Amino acid sequence: MHHVTKTQQFTRSSLDQLFALASQLEKTRDDCLKGKIMAALFFEPSTRTRLSFSSAMLRLGGSVITMESGQASSQSKGETLEDSIRVISNYADVIVMRHNETGASDRAAAVASVPIINAGDGNMGQHPTQSLLDLYTIQRELKREDGIHVAIIGNLRYYRSARSLSYILGKYKDMKITFVSSPELQMADDVKKYLTRHKVEWNETEDMAQVVKEADVVYQTRIAKEWIKNDAEYEKQKGRYIITRKVANSMKKGAIIIHPLPRIGEITDDVDTSPHAVYFRQVGYGLLVRMALLKTILTSKQK
Ligand code: CP
Repeated sequence: MHHVTKTQQFTRSSLDQLFALASQLEKTRDDCLKGKIMAALFFEPSTRTRLSFSSAMLRLGGSVITMESGQASSQSKGETLEDSIRVISNYADVIVMRHNETGASDRAAAVASVPIINAGDGNMGQHPTQSLLDLYTIQRELKREDGIHVAIIGNLRYYRSARSLSYILGKYKDMKITFVSSPELQMADDVKKYLTRHKVEWNETEDMAQVVKEADVVYQTRIAKEWIKNDAEYEKQKGRYIITRKVANSMKKGAIIIHPLPRIGEITDDVDTSPHAVYFRQVGYGLLVRMALLKTILTSKQK
């Protein structure tokens, strides 16, 4: 494994290995990344991805350097992304990058001499490590890998995490995906065509109520204001799909609610105590998965 830019690149076997390592790292920590440096380049805001990657690196004995957008970096002087990456490749053993342009991680990977990890690129790009932790959460909580019905709800068109998750679910057998959204925010065709090609059963609907009762996993998403340019459209979309305690109570036994977070009201606070609510445990699983990913990338490079 070198660059991680999209979820299609993983195989079922590589996912099994990664998740086994994540579970192992929960029990036994080591300092296998002592002497290694991770550069965190975040050109967009982040709490979870940035801090969990940094924490993962530090917990494995490594170090972190950071660069942000704006006046702090030479991109404000007009330096290209490619030149920045060529330079930073000299300072770090791995680069974790979030960028507002779809495809930015592939551009970075094309010129980097160290591994690039896509920490989210653009509104129609991908967020592959989010989906790795989503999938690990699903498998840990449901205790199975195949035959899972996932309802992905809300902002599907402009939400890279939903795109990455849909692609990665296609690696498993007898999966079913129900996309629940307004017509304006439906999942894009490239994802749907991929699922059809890989024989994953999928359908789409505007009606959340019935789907929530049937799904094993309810994947709620945020209506991202930053990606819906038109304020009137944002106002129209926000609040359309809200998981309330009543909605959560209608779910079948053992079914889970996950969310990449942050949530902005699309899951009400009283759901947090529901047995279906897994979204805060999901954050902890994310740290383990990112530790496993860094260890896999940085130790296999040494061979
Ligand atoms: N889920 C996620 O990517 O969160 P952050 O934007 O806080 O990193």
